[in-house]
Amino acid sequence: MLFFVLGISCSEEAKECSDVKKNISQPLNPNGDSELALLMRAMFDEAQQIKEQIANGKPVSLSLDHEKILTAHATEPEKAASEEFQAFATLYLKTIENLQKASPEKAIKLYDNMVDNCMSCHKALCPGPIVRIKKLR
Ligand code: HEC
Repeated sequence: MLFFVLGISCSEEAKECSDVKKNISQPLNPNGDSELALLMRAMFDEAQQIKEQIANGKPVSLSLDHEKILTAHATEPEKAASEEFQAFATLYLKTIENLQKASPEKAIKLYDNMVDNCMSCHKALCPGPIVRIKKLR
């Protein structure tokens, strides 16, 4: 059972975690999406919005509580509790903070930094969604 659950979120085969799960109608079903997985999906959507805001020369405005990344319940709780995860998550929160304060000229570079951040945590801990994350570039 544990291995089954691990397979869903981060394994190479489940490259498109979200697409695989689209058909699950109850997001909080115990075998369905964790709080962290739902947050990640919202982060993905928000990143797309940020990209658009920057492309239109608008100030970056965030709607999510990104801090939740530190505490959200994960499919593999021991992974999210690891020092490695917490370190990547703290770095991610810094880039988000910088991005929010950035002038429009700097925002593009900081946006790229943010996507790099998504990537480095995923390369280390959760390779499955990397293909999707690349599309944010
Ligand atoms: C600190 C590490 C870390 C960072 C930073 C991070 N992720 Fe994740 N991400 C994870 C982990 C771990 C999971 C698996 C969550 C679970 O299943 O509980 C995940 C899951 C996902 C998923 C799959 C969700 C699903 O439907 O199952 C997507 C998509 C995703 N992340 C996108 C992103 C994007 C986009 C960013 C940057 C804006 C990002 N991640 C930043 C660790 C991270």
